[in-house]
Amino acid sequence: MSPAIRVVLLGAPASGKGTQGRKIAQALGVPKISTGDMLRAARDAGSELGRKADGIMSAGQLVPDALVINLVDERLREPDATGGCVLDGFPRTVAQADSLEELLRKRDERVDVALHLEVERGLLMERAILRRTDVRTGQIYHMKYNPPPAGAEVEHRADDREEAVSKRLDAYDAMTAALVPHYQNRGVLRVVDGVGSPVEVSARIETVFEELGRAIRLG
Ligand code: AP5
Repeated sequence: MSPAIRVVLLGAPASGKGTQGRKIAQALGVPKISTGDMLRAARDAGSELGRKADGIMSAGQLVPDALVINLVDERLREPDATGGCVLDGFPRTVAQADSLEELLRKRDERVDVALHLEVERGLLMERAILRRTDVRTGQIYHMKYNPPPAGAEVEHRADDREEAVSKRLDAYDAMTAALVPHYQNRGVLRVVDGVGSPVEVSARIETVFEELGRAIRLG
């Protein structure tokens, strides 16, 4: 069995973390843990956490650190995460990164690689606004670059309206961009050009994993 690997996906909103993260997790045989997906599931279930997070997410702001750290702590304890994971959208602040480090340290684990998907802001806007998600499978589509098949039941996220996307991009610059130097200082940062087709971006990610001695095919 391959040794456990813990991957953090860094990148601004709509940079392709979900699209690539799904494939990476599948290729590595580990779960993709997305705090955005978990918060949306909590909102749809009408839980207390979901009610607290709903308005904050729709406004394009970050949910308080304590809530998401707790969510991830619980998720990492589940049996399928013991062999590694792909973290998508977490950590998002230096405080979250410090908490993650502490959580993992207690289990003698660490972040092995932080992949930063780099995409310029103009493209991010277009990617977010035209994104659609299959309500049943979670498959991510784009009305221009990867349209959903006829008959698919897709939704448009409330926070993918132009004004909210702009606020999310500002929140990324203010709170999350600092994680790039943070992981660089830890020697685990790998920067991937996120511009180009999803297949081209996947090929660049494959090269990174090959260099790490964990060759994967992202199909
Ligand atoms: P979250 O769900 O994590 O959203 P995000 O980080 O803003 O990322 P996105 O899901 O928007 O984009 P992505 O990078 O996954 O891109 P995707 O692959 O879908 O978080 C939502 C909210 O939850 C936050 O704003 C916050 O309120 C809260 N939250 C979550 N985690 C939190 C945390 N840790 N702390 C505090 N609050 C938290 O691609 C986007 C589109 O582009 C798609 O349409 C796709 O088809 C298309 N696309 C992808 N790749 C390409 C390509 N190469 N070429 C062309 N199109 C492409």
